[in-house]
Amino acid sequence: MPVLERLLYRSKATNTLGSLHLFNMLSEARAKNAMLGITGHLLYTEEVFVQCIEGKPEAIESLWHSLQRDARHYDIELLARGPLEKRRFSDWSMAFSSYPSLNRFNMPGFFAVDKEGMSAEAERCAKA
Ligand SMILES: Cc1cc2nc3c(=O)[nH]c(=O)nc-3n(C[C@H](O)[C@H](O)[C@H](O)COP(=O)(O)O)c2cc1C
Repeated sequence: MPVLERLLYRSKATNTLGSLHLFNMLSEARAKNAMLGITGHLLYTEEVFVQCIEGKPEAIESLWHSLQRDARHYDIELLARGPLEKRRFSDWSMAFSSYPSLNRFNMPGFFAVDKEGMSAEAERCAKA
């Protein structure tokens, strides 16, 4: 088994999410990720999520199961999964990129997307 694994998926938000929902979701996710040793990045634009998670294969498998059961998103599409030599987001239990208007609570680890709906962090997450 590889030491580290990375998983990338895309999904659609079931409901339009505002700052408060996103803040709460990220706070919860970050607490659990810190316990599981998971790091990564979540992008939320146009009601679409793209998330990469990285960590020990057992932790990734467990979170992947939880994510697939979560009714807050649907049409979950696995884009990539494989071994990883070095974490790309070692500084963040879950970095988050979205529109500045969705960061009313000034959460740490927030990155504003540009006009194309991208940030440097989101690009780092999505690259092969
Ligand atoms: C788009 C999206 C991203 C999520 N990201 C994470 C995450 O990074 N870590 C996490 O623990 N939960 C995350 N969650 C929540 C999980 O789906 C799940 O509710 C949580 O891990 C609790 O799982 P459990 O009910 O199986 O214990 C996310 C949910 C959504 C909708």
